[in-house]
Amino acid sequence: MKKRLIITVDGPAGSGKSTVSRILAERISYMYLDTGLLYRAIAYKAMQRGISIADDEALRELCDGINIPLETDGDMRVLVDGEDVSDNVRTEEIGMLASSISAVSAVRDALLPLQRSAGKHGGIVTEGRDMGTVVFPNADVKFFLDADVDERARRRYEQLVENGGNANLDEVKRGLETRDYRDTRRATAPLKPADDSVIIDTTGIDIEEVVRVVGDRIGAGR
Ligand code: DC
Repeated sequence: MKKRLIITVDGPAGSGKSTVSRILAERISYMYLDTGLLYRAIAYKAMQRGISIADDEALRELCDGINIPLETDGDMRVLVDGEDVSDNVRTEEIGMLASSISAVSAVRDALLPLQRSAGKHGGIVTEGRDMGTVVFPNADVKFFLDADVDERARRRYEQLVENGGNANLDEVKRGLETRDYRDTRRATAPLKPADDSVIIDTTGIDIEEVVRVVGDRIGAGR
């Protein structure tokens, strides 16, 4: 039987990592784990319950209430205290709050075992900011996707419009820059490529082409 790998895909927002990870996981019948969704779920619930970003204890409790049903068909869902919040968290506002909350060490510590347990049998494509550096340092194949900020902003903007949202390209770009700054400068598990990652600049490259390059690398690593 072929070894079931742990494949990590890290990178900033709009780098194409979600699309690539999702397509890849589906093609090779692996589980897809979007860890940004976990931070977004905590941000959403904290906002709903009026929990301050300084309240470590309350944030940790929220993390304890997270559940990821594993029997999904590729489209990952996340529950907090039994409520499926997956469809409420994909806004720019929640992305920004998730970026702030993800700098809280208590939150990162609390979400670590959950992420590791999802990958304990391998057969997983997992995306985020610290998958290859902190969560799965011994992953079999690691990718780091990046792209020019203007292109990332354009992709994000188009996604928001497609989902029926009201978006402004300049605002989206400024939001990305703020998040990039925060995600790369925080003290705990900052966004950066693992030393042994394959770095791919997706600027101007069709997503199918990125999937092909990633797929070839995995084939070579098996
Ligand atoms: O990938 P995303 O845009 O859904 O992530 C939202 C925020 O969550 C991101 O700005 C930083 C944080 N995050 C993180 O710190 N570590 C991860 N592994 C995934 C996301």
